Amino acid sequence: MEISKIKETAEEILQTLSISDKAKLLSQIVWETTDIHKMHEKLEKFLLADGPAGIRRLKDYFDEDIYNTRKSTCYPSPSTYAGSWNRELIYKLGEHMGKEARQEEVDTMLAPAVNLKRSPLGGRNFEYYSEDPYLTGELAAEFIRGIQSEGIGACLKHFAVNNQETRRMNVDVQIDETTLHELYLSAFEKPVKVGKPKMVMTAYNQVNGEYCASSPVLLDLLRKQWGYNGVVVTDCYAAHKLGQGVCHGLTLQMPGESGEKIARDIQDLLKAGEITEEQLDRAVLHNIQFALEAKEHRNQDYKYNREAHHEFARELAGESMVLLKNQDQTLPLNKEEGILVVGELALCPRFQGGGSSHVNPWKLTIPLEEMKKQGKNIGFVKGYTLNGDEEENLKLLGDTLRETGQYDKIVVFAGVPDLIESEGYDRESIKLPKEQNRLISALADKGKPVIVALANGSVVEMPWKDEVSSILECYLGGEAGAEAAADILFGEINPSGKLAETFPVCLSDNPSYLYFPGDTERVVYGEGQFIGYKYYDALKKETAFPFGHGLSYTEFKYEDIGNLVDIDQETVTVKITNTGHRAGKEIIQIYVRRRASGESPTPKKLVGFEKISLNPGEEKIVTVFLDKRTFMTYNAKKHQWERRNSIYDLFVGSSVEDVRLNEAVRIKDGVYEITKDSSIGDMIQIPGMYEQLEKVFNPHPISLNFLQMTKEEDPLKAISMGSLMTFETLKRVDGTLEDQNIEEIIKYINKVQEENNGNRLGD
Ligand code: BGC
Repeated sequence: MEISKIKETAEEILQTLSISDKAKLLSQIVWETTDIHKMHEKLEKFLLADGPAGIRRLKDYFDEDIYNTRKSTCYPSPSTYAGSWNRELIYKLGEHMGKEARQEEVDTMLAPAVNLKRSPLGGRNFEYYSEDPYLTGELAAEFIRGIQSEGIGACLKHFAVNNQETRRMNVDVQIDETTLHELYLSAFEKPVKVGKPKMVMTAYNQVNGEYCASSPVLLDLLRKQWGYNGVVVTDCYAAHKLGQGVCHGLTLQMPGESGEKIARDIQDLLKAGEITEEQLDRAVLHNIQFALEAKEHRNQDYKYNREAHHEFARELAGESMVLLKNQDQTLPLNKEEGILVVGELALCPRFQGGGSSHVNPWKLTIPLEEMKKQGKNIGFVKGYTLNGDEEENLKLLGDTLRETGQYDKIVVFAGVPDLIESEGYDRESIKLPKEQNRLISALADKGKPVIVALANGSVVEMPWKDEVSSILECYLGGEAGAEAAADILFGEINPSGKLAETFPVCLSDNPSYLYFPGDTERVVYGEGQFIGYKYYDALKKETAFPFGHGLSYTEFKYEDIGNLVDIDQETVTVKITNTGHRAGKEIIQIYVRRRASGESPTPKKLVGFEKISLNPGEEKIVTVFLDKRTFMTYNAKKHQWERRNSIYDLFVGSSVEDVRLNEAVRIKDGVYEITKDSSIGDMIQIPGMYEQLEKVFNPHPISLNFLQMTKEEDPLKAISMGSLMTFETLKRVDGTLEDQNIEEIIKYINKVQEENNGNRLGD
C-alpha cells in the first residue's frame, strides 16, 4: 500500500475508535501491542525485539528469562563494529539484521543505541559506538537505512544523555546547553534526519530536571526542529508525566500500563485539560500508521541464509578489530612457526555483552580451534582461570612459564570476564583481572615475542603495553569473532579498524573521572564538551592509544596535491599511496578546531572521514566531504547553531594524534551578529572589523579614541578598555553617540559582514 493510502486508512481507523481504545493504543504490553485487532479488523499487533548486535527474539513473550531467545546471528557488538568506520558495511549489517527480523516476524528492532561513551566505566559502552558524535551519527544513520531497506523498523535509542547505568532510572543529568547540543544530541540528529527511523526511544534519566519521556526540550527538538514524524516510545517502564509527554510528541509506553488503567488515566488527563483529544489522536495516529506499515511488510515465509550471515559477521569483525601495536612486525604470524596459545578465553570466548542486547548465537566459534585451523604448530596452556581462584591461577602461571621454551611466539587471549560488562550497572574499574596482567608481564619477561589478543566491550588499562610485541584489540567479536581474530593474526586479513574511543593510560586520566556517576540524585557533566579525545588533545595529555588509531600490515603516505581544503565545496582532498607490500585499507580522518581568541580553549572535533582500499603501490586522490557543522557552533544564548567567523585549523590524519597534513582557513561569511552588548575587544577579533569601526566612529572622537587604545602596547589600555567598552558603555562616556547612531552603526556593520565573501586566509 502506498504511504498516502496507509495514512488515509490510519485516519479512517482512528475515526472508529473510542477514547478508551485510543488510550490502549498508547500502551504496549510486553513486546506485542495490545490485542488490537478486536478494535478494528485492519489493526494487527506489532512485535519489537532488541538489537543491536543481533536479534533478541524471545521464545515466549512472557518468559522471565531474558536470555531464552531464539537463535540468531550474533554480530560483533557496536563498540566493535564502530571500529570499522565503514559506512557501507554498517548499512549491510542493517540489511542483514533486517532480513533476520523478517524471518523472526519482528517488526521493529530496538537499535541502534547512540549514547556517547562519556566515561570508560559506562556499563553499556559495548552497546554504544563511540565517544564522538559525528562518527556515531554517520554509522548509526547507515545502520538504520540498512534495516529499514528490508521493510523492518529501526528504533533509535536512548534519547538522550543516558551515559551511565548507575541510577539510570532517575538520575538527573545536569548539563550545559552547548554541550548537550554539540555532543549528546548531535549523535542523534543525523540518525533521525538521514536514517529516518520508524521509532525513537526516550531514555530513562532526567535531563536538567525533566524526565526524557516528557521533556519538552528534547521532544520539541525532535518533533519541531528535526521534523521527526514517527513513533516515540519510552524505555521500559520509563513513562513519567504521560500527559506532558503526549503533548510534546510521545506516542507509546513500553511495556505500559494495563489497558484499563491507561484508559482511566487518559480520561483523567482529558478532563483536567492536561491533554487535548487532538493531541491524543495525533499520538495514536502515529502508532496506527506504524502498525499498518509493519503489516504491509510482514512476510511469513521469508528465510535468510544462516551460513551467509555468519560469514558476514566474520567479515564485519575482521574489518573492525584494531591492531594497536605491532613492534618489529611480529604479526602476521607465519603458519609454520611454533605458537603457544595462552588463556582460558581462547577456550571460552568473550564475544558479547550482557543485558537486553544479548543474543543466543547460532554458531559460536572458538579461538583455539580457529588458531589450529590456520597454524600448523599450535600449542595451548590455560594460563589463568576466569573464576579468579588465586591458588589455581598461580599454578597455571607456573605451568605456562615452563611451557614457552619450544615455541617461537606466544599469543595470549586476555580480556574482561563476562559479568563485568552489562546493561544495568557500570564497571568499577578498567583493569583486567590481576592474574591476566601478571601472566602477560611474566611471559614478556621470557624474552619471546608476546602478542595479546584482547576481548572487552570497552577500554582497559594495559600496564604491560610497552613490554609486549603486539596488541590486537578484538573487542567483542560476536559469534564469528574467533575466526576474524585468527584471520588477522595469520594475515589472511590486513587489519583496518581504528579506535572509536580513546584508551587512557589509566582511569583517573579520563575527564569525567571526578564527575562520574554523580551523587544519589544528580550527575553534573562538569567536563563539558571535553570528553574523550577532545580533552586529551586540548591538554596534550598522553594516552595509551589515541582516538582514531589503528595499524595495518602496510603503510600509507598522505600528500597535499595543492587544493587541500575547498571551503566553498566544504571538502578536503588528499592523495594517498599504499607504500607497503600488501593490499590494505586506510581511514582518512579530518578534524577541525576553531581558533578562539579571548575565549576558553575550543575542542578539536572529527568532521569527516573516508575509508579506502589500496593495492601495493597504488595511489588514490580522495575527496572527503566535511560535516555541515564544521564551521558552526551552538549558541546557547540564541538556542541555535550558527556559522562562526573565525580562523579554523583543519587537520588531516591517520588518527587524532597522527596528523599528516593541515591547513588554516578563515571563515568570513558566518553570522557573528553584533549587538549593543558587543564589546570592542570582541568585535575587533573579526577580520576587517577594526577598519570598519574606525570608519563609523570617525564622527565620534571619544569612541574612536577607545577603539585606537586597543592598538596600544600597554595591555591595560589595549585589552582592558577593549573589553570594557560595549556600545552601551560607550554611549555613557561619548555624548555624541545616541541610540539612533548605535542602531545605524550596528545595522551597517552587520550588513558589511554579510556581504563579506571569500573565506580563504589572505583573501
Ligand atoms: C533497555 C533498552 C531495551 C529495553 C527492552 C531496557 O532496559 O534500556 O535498551 O531496548 O530494555 O529490552
